[in-house]
Amino acid sequence: MINGTNNNNVLVQIRDLSVVYHTRLGPLSAVDDVSFDIFRGEILGVVGESGCGKSTMGKALMRMIDRPGEINNGQIIFDGEDIMTFDAHRMRDFRGRKVSMIFQDPMTSLNPVQRVDEHIIEAIQVHEPKTKKTSALDRARGLIEKLGIQSRRLRDHPHQLSGGMRQRVMIGLGLVLNADLIIADEATTSLDVIVEAKLLDQLRDIRDTLNKTILLITHNIGLVAELSDRIAVMYAGRVVELGSIYDVFDTPLHPYTRGLLKSVPNIRLDEDEALYKMPGEPPNLTHPPAGCRFHPRCPEVMPICSKIAPRLETARPNHLVHCWLYQEHPEKETPTVAVKS
Ligand SMILES: Nc1ncnc2c1ncn2[C@@H]1O[C@H](COP(=O)(O)OP(=O)(O)OP(=O)(O)O)[C@@H](O)[C@H]1O
Ligand SMILES: [Mg+2]
Repeated sequence: MINGTNNNNVLVQIRDLSVVYHTRLGPLSAVDDVSFDIFRGEILGVVGESGCGKSTMGKALMRMIDRPGEINNGQIIFDGEDIMTFDAHRMRDFRGRKVSMIFQDPMTSLNPVQRVDEHIIEAIQVHEPKTKKTSALDRARGLIEKLGIQSRRLRDHPHQLSGGMRQRVMIGLGLVLNADLIIADEATTSLDVIVEAKLLDQLRDIRDTLNKTILLITHNIGLVAELSDRIAVMYAGRVVELGSIYDVFDTPLHPYTRGLLKSVPNIRLDEDEALYKMPGEPPNLTHPPAGCRFHPRCPEVMPICSKIAPRLETARPNHLVHCWLYQEHPEKETPTVAVKS
């Protein structure tokens, strides 16, 4: 049940989450009023154009939004507890032990003066102070070899590794603490296709054997299709569609999702169709459009769309969409589209 409360299958409940960055040009609404659940043991793919708020949302789930940003509204209920109420000490323990993030940019996330083994041992000992250095090192060795790096490279500094190796070290750091939720933010973008395929297999393995939950943030819809159970489509700071891979790819409901799928080679439902180019540009989030943020680009726009934002609501079983085409409202003049379930 996607909208359920206190459901044992739900690991994280995100409710009314908003994040703003206070920029020189005014507040930038990077995530706006987002509510959805992450199920235990699922791989949930998060897709959307650059700048739509994917990384911001991922970081918000760990309360890692730094200035000039802030979470200005919402609840994040992890395993029944609202992490927004945690103090700094509890939050530090929560990060790493319960949720860990594999970051987009390894060069800025790794400390250039620390060797690889020191990074991993430190990550273990911060969260597990009783673990001895030798056993932390053993764990580091096992992990790094599993990720296809020879253990002698543990003595290297980040700049001595190739970009792909650095990325694998980042993935190792994300996995070493055995967190319940792993947020992989473009974690495989800089890897070549063979290494990428191997790592994706490992992510799937981790989910299957350890029953971890993975939030897979990526531009690459093909990757999401291959690996994820469900997909969340983001547009301009909002989740506009959420459902199983099968449902969303087979019956995309939101006009944005439809455009997005038509614009991706190999994913298009009709191979003969020319590659679609979505008209217009994503909005400037310091001045987002009123109502539905997609309305200026939407081929099916209605008068209500520029006035009131729809909610992310169930349109078909377990398939949610943020669109007036599928929701009733007294101000809406056109009848809603009936969707087959
Ligand atoms: N530190 C910051 N200060 C000001 N604005 C920011 C900051 N970080 C992100 N933003 C803005 O917030 C919005 C969302 O950015 P975010 O990085 O979350 O997008 P994204 O979907 O992860 O993009 P990409 O696919 O390029 O990684 C963008 O408009 C971005 O410019
Ligand atoms: Mg990003």
